[in-house]
Amino acid sequence: MNAVPEQSPPREGPVWVTGAAGLIGNEVVRLAREASNGSTAPVAVRGLARADLDLTDFAAVDRLFAAERPSAVIHCAAMSKSPDCQRDPEAAWRANHEATVHLAALAGGIPFLLMSTDLVFDGRKGNYAEDDSVNPLSVYAETKVAAEQAVLTNARHLVVRTSLNFGSSPGGRSAFNEEMREAWRSGRTLDLFVDEFRSPIPVSETARILWDLILGRHAGLFHVAGRERLSRVGIGLLVAQWCRREEANLPTPYRAGSLRDYRGAPRSPDTSMDTGKVERLLDLRLPWFSRWMAEGLGTEKL
Ligand SMILES: NC(=O)c1ccc[n+]([C@@H]2O[C@H](COP(=O)([O-])OP(=O)(O)OC[C@H]3O[C@@H](n4cnc5c(N)ncnc54)[C@H](OP(=O)(O)O)[C@@H]3O)[C@@H](O)[C@H]2O)c1
Repeated sequence: MNAVPEQSPPREGPVWVTGAAGLIGNEVVRLAREASNGSTAPVAVRGLARADLDLTDFAAVDRLFAAERPSAVIHCAAMSKSPDCQRDPEAAWRANHEATVHLAALAGGIPFLLMSTDLVFDGRKGNYAEDDSVNPLSVYAETKVAAEQAVLTNARHLVVRTSLNFGSSPGGRSAFNEEMREAWRSGRTLDLFVDEFRSPIPVSETARILWDLILGRHAGLFHVAGRERLSRVGIGLLVAQWCRREEANLPTPYRAGSLRDYRGAPRSPDTSMDTGKVERLLDLRLPWFSRWMAEGLGTEKL
């Protein structure tokens, strides 16, 4: 006699958002809460900060996962600052790789989205598409590449690589614009390269697309970044304007330099990203960052 196949009960639990006290996770949770106040498709969301659950405590993760039975996971928690990872590689591998592998395995049967980074590329080419080869130059990037590879072994799962996200984090210090403002507030002069390029994006846009991808049950690897390729100096000028709008008298000094004269840990000169794949899939245009800064800030105070 054949055994009766085991039926798993329907998944009705919330969507887990890890890293909820960080820049991107906080915005992902905020967007969902905002949507559920309106009339459209409310999504039950469980924002998990480190205080709720340390993702490297695997027994605790197992217990909470079994208790809450999430219906999907948007995994934004990470050791996200490259210098921290470089200082403590063991902690970086545990937080960024091992914790991701553990959580993705628990979430084997449900949609799972890992946030990753443009720094998986060495930056020698620029305008990177999803099928370009990775070549990580730092511990942070190495942990992200390994986590990506583990996640993408599951055909239901997603990896989203993003670039610099502009916005407002709960602690006020996580976004690149907040880091620059902190440096200027403490009287520093910033060294900005004319020949290092990134594709900055407002965090509100990133969060919106993460929801579109996970709720649409999409899978695979996507680049989600601004369409505009900007130098560090170009980005600095825009952030200085933003700072002066917020704090009229804040001095925002910087020195323009070249990567050619830089001596230090390896840097990726141009990690600008081709975002055509996600734009075609979701039928949208990602923002042109300088235009968004000029036009968007009037209506949305960060
Ligand atoms: N923001 C960007 O510009 C950007 C660019 C490229 C890629 N990304 C990626 O996008 C994701 C989100 O970035 P983000 O800017 O939102 O980072 P973030 O502001 O640093 O937030 C990450 C959060 O993860 C938490 N976390 C770290 N280890 C944890 C652990 N073991 N258990 C539970 N929570 C833990 C951190 O808590 P603590 O503060 O307590 O450590 C922090 O609140 C990351 O994977 C990052 O690598 C971000």
